[in-house]
Amino acid sequence: LPRLYSGMQPSADSLHLGNYIGALLQWKELQSTHDAFFSVVDLHAITVAQDPAELREKTRRTAAQYIAAGIDPSVSTLYVQSHVPAHAQLAWVLNTITGFGEASRMTQFKDKSAKQGADATSVGLFAYPVLMAADILLYDTEVVPVGDDQRQHVELTRDLAERFNKRFGETFVVPQAMILKDGARIYDLQNPESKMSKSADSGAGIIWMLDEPDVTRKKIMRAVTDTDGVVSFDRAGKPGISNLLNIYSALSGRPVADIELDYDGKGYGDFKKGLVEVVVETFGPVRERALDLLGDPAELDRILAGNAERASEVAERTLAKAYNAVGLLRRA
Ligand code: TYM
Repeated sequence: LPRLYSGMQPSADSLHLGNYIGALLQWKELQSTHDAFFSVVDLHAITVAQDPAELREKTRRTAAQYIAAGIDPSVSTLYVQSHVPAHAQLAWVLNTITGFGEASRMTQFKDKSAKQGADATSVGLFAYPVLMAADILLYDTEVVPVGDDQRQHVELTRDLAERFNKRFGETFVVPQAMILKDGARIYDLQNPESKMSKSADSGAGIIWMLDEPDVTRKKIMRAVTDTDGVVSFDRAGKPGISNLLNIYSALSGRPVADIELDYDGKGYGDFKKGLVEVVVETFGPVRERALDLLGDPAELDRILAGNAERASEVAERTLAKAYNAVGLLRRA
């Protein structure tokens, strides 16, 4: 089976609807046709300030939500990035072949560092994409399913793999990004021009997977729409309704056109009520399973440890090859 790798940052108590539709839904499908590795990237999360106790908790919660959403830890290798030291080790080696200018051109870094200012920006944030390259290259990854916002980082990963292979001999598989289709970009319910994001100014437009059903209902009923009252898809003219239609379609597995027909002649209120049902039906069981798993943290930690073991075996082999290729003396 082709090797697949992806990951998510443990930067909030709950994953959101964008993470679910943009990542988890596809991961769940792909795990049966690929040898899949999914990580909770805690080393990436600490590139911005984190509260230590909260980070530990968020890491567990993120892992629990992967499983609750359908990632099977006995089929896929689901593990915590920092449990496999090879990630940080290979990242160091890759740092040495990454250009300063090259890293400076990463748009996500430019955006984040511009917002924070140079003094508040860590060298870790600068090297973030190189650590991501290490994640991917350690596993001889062929495909990397990610949202459009990660495209440039996968491009950098390919460049680094090719550069390394050319300079030091064939070592890494050059991976390919699998960019999720347009419909997989989910927007903020209060601000349908910008993507649903953990770092939004207000939480009012974010549907969290672990929200109580009643909270979900309120957020959807208050979602920003327009005034013409027709449930139809028009991304430019009706961004709010189009976003809701996309969500409805992704979660129900039905084409947008069918949903438009269902609500032909009905108002936005009816449509939103229908969407509430679909979202609550999807996340209700996910929420219950996640809380269940979190009720037994020892068992969850045991699952993660076993999977880290499996990941280490693959990662250690690749790291040894890379160390050897650049001429690091093997310890006798
Ligand atoms: P992160 O944690 O920001 O996001 C995780 C995944 O969720 C997708 N996503 C969305 N999709 C649709 N609509 C949205 N509103 C939305 N918001 C987030 C993202 O595209 C992503 O696929 N650098 C990565 C994590 C990472 C990684 C890796 C990924 C680290 N190492 C190796 C792949 C391979 C990140 O910060 O994702």
